Amino acid sequence: MKEWEDQKTKLVASIHSASTLDELEDIRITALGKKGTITGLMKSLGSLDPDKRKEAGQLLNAIKEQVASAIDVRKVTMEDAALETQLHRDRVDVTLPIRPESNGSIHPITQTIDELTAIFCEMGFSVADGPHIESDYYNFSALNIPPEHPARQEQDTFYLPPDETGTPRVLRTHTSPVQIRTMEKTTPPIKIIVPGRTFRSDHDATHSPMFHQVEGLVIDKTSHMGHLKGCLIDFCRAFFGVDDLPVRFRPSYFPFTEPSAEVDIGCTRAGGEFRIGKGDDWLEILGSGMVHPRVLSGCGINPDEYQGFAFGMGIERIAMLKYGIPDLRPFYDTDIRWLKHYGFVPLDLPTIAGGINR
Ligand code: PHE
Repeated sequence: MKEWEDQKTKLVASIHSASTLDELEDIRITALGKKGTITGLMKSLGSLDPDKRKEAGQLLNAIKEQVASAIDVRKVTMEDAALETQLHRDRVDVTLPIRPESNGSIHPITQTIDELTAIFCEMGFSVADGPHIESDYYNFSALNIPPEHPARQEQDTFYLPPDETGTPRVLRTHTSPVQIRTMEKTTPPIKIIVPGRTFRSDHDATHSPMFHQVEGLVIDKTSHMGHLKGCLIDFCRAFFGVDDLPVRFRPSYFPFTEPSAEVDIGCTRAGGEFRIGKGDDWLEILGSGMVHPRVLSGCGINPDEYQGFAFGMGIERIAMLKYGIPDLRPFYDTDIRWLKHYGFVPLDLPTIAGGINR
């Protein structure tokens, strides 16, 4: 048995001095492979008498484990070293100027999402997301929109075949289902925005069957309508870069908020020119309201303890307004000329005022 210990010491030493992964693999095969030395010794245990066999077996098992773990450790060290060398070799100099021929640009939707995310994150929101294919429950019922509710017809829903459990499915018609998904799995306080794709069966100069929305949701014990107003007024002024932008809250109706309000921003259409800012006209840009108690309790949140607000707005719409893009359809035409005209330089950091007065 002393011999076995010596053999192990030698093996471990050779493992430590192995300098390539191939060499290490050879050692493993010679010792632990089918015809390996340690495997051979294991096989020979059968010929020992039972009381000796047990002791010898335990010792051999221990030796086998030590050798195997020495190989594993050495392997990780070697792999780390190899990665380190590779990282060193593949280093890129990020201070080099960009190639003059590179002419890719950032799509206005991406840019707008980056900008609004920067504004809301500054206010303490984090970003959440959810699936595009939704169950009827998350898209409607959980949002207090029962099957017979007229809001279902208004939404021009794309219906999909039910899943294998028979659950009716739709392409989500708004980002509001992510409110439900988030409330179900998070204990308040909650403060999220959800930028993402939405789908409605509608197609003309101002509607696309696929478009983007950003949802907002704040749930805690104290947030009220005043916070909703403050938050959205601040957002509109920061996003459009107009400090005294008039913002108006108009009573409205959504099944999942009570009270509900639509939000308009000030604009002028004087002299055939459209401009955002102080003026004599209003333009609707988003829907909002205090989360309905029934929606809260449906998600397991006690409405006597928690409350909060939600809002949703169309991203294409605010992008078109901010950047003076007249038609919605070219957003998805992948026309390089349009992208060159309205796209953004990839290396520009998104700032909340970026793009204004370009
Ligand atoms: N989901 C609504 C829509 O698509 C917008 C909204 C979101 C309204 C949150 C109120 C609160 O029109």
